[in-house]
Amino acid sequence: MFDLATYLSRVKETVETYLDKRLSADDGASARLIEAMRYSLFVGGKRIRPLLVFAAADAVRGMNGQPAAKSAILPETRVGAAVECIHTYSLIHDDLPAMDDDDLRRGKPTCHKAFDEATAILAGDALLNLGFQLLVEGIVDHGMELAHAARSIGDATGIGGMVTGQMLDLESVHHEPTPQLVEEIHRNKTGAFLRACVVAGGQAAGATRQQAEYLATFGECIGLAFQIIDDLLDLVETTEQLGKRSHKDVEQNKVTYPAVFGIEESRAKAADLTQRAEQSLVPFGEHATALRAAADLILKRHY
Ligand code: IPE
Ligand code: IPE
Ligand code: MG
Ligand code: MG
Ligand code: MG
Repeated sequence: MFDLATYLSRVKETVETYLDKRLSADDGASARLIEAMRYSLFVGGKRIRPLLVFAAADAVRGMNGQPAAKSAILPETRVGAAVECIHTYSLIHDDLPAMDDDDLRRGKPTCHKAFDEATAILAGDALLNLGFQLLVEGIVDHGMELAHAARSIGDATGIGGMVTGQMLDLESVHHEPTPQLVEEIHRNKTGAFLRACVVAGGQAAGATRQQAEYLATFGECIGLAFQIIDDLLDLVETTEQLGKRSHKDVEQNKVTYPAVFGIEESRAKAADLTQRAEQSLVPFGEHATALRAAADLILKRHY
């Protein structure tokens, strides 16, 4: 019987052990910079993005009848570690006073509160670079499969996705909240990256073009659902439960799903997206068990 909690804790341990080693061995780096990077990276986090990477890689290998990869460091370990670095950078910058101005993240003071603003900016910069460095190192060791994965992640995290989404998010506070605007923001700031995690995980395991397309459809649906749920949790959960300040979006006049559609309709949209996501996994059959469980976790999570 598949158990998601066991699967997720194995993913967490693999990725965290790898990152711990990788972030201890940088001779010559500023000790304070490394300390700030490690602070934000190891302070917690659900590790949903690495989970998606591993689950997609397993779906592809299972469907193709390939044995698990044998290299000392699995390609999905590098990709999973890379996406967690890039994600953590995005959180550090998202929390800065010039952006969402938050003082709590993953249950602890945000990076700029625990250190200072300049250090937080640089820790974010260094984590973004480290993420892509890990992917490039992966290309050297694992070849073109990792190059495809790196490309997917690059396409989704810069002007083609997350950074554009963050810009739209900040500008949106001056705009009328409409269904078109909120969907555009959410697909860019969060959806594109989650979709890329799924696709890149598959590509790291040698997905065919067709398999990558199935994974892209799945990732697109759960990516949007993920941010809808994040908006809902901001409204209905407490700061203690979330480990970050709740009720911030209304305070800051953010364009969110509940602001546009209300709580019930937003919930229904997230459930509908999850169902559509699961339909796109049909070709993978039983090999997509972990991906299905991840989609369910994203929908039902409370933090
Ligand atoms: C929070 O992401 C930022 C969003 C894109 C909504 P997560 O909810 O995955 O945060 P952690 O990594 O578990 O802290
Ligand atoms: C953040 O969205 C998306 C990112 C790209 C980091 P939010 O601003 O809603 O994320 P939280 O609620 O602060 O985690
Ligand atoms: Mg934000
Ligand atoms: Mg925020
Ligand atoms: Mg939020």
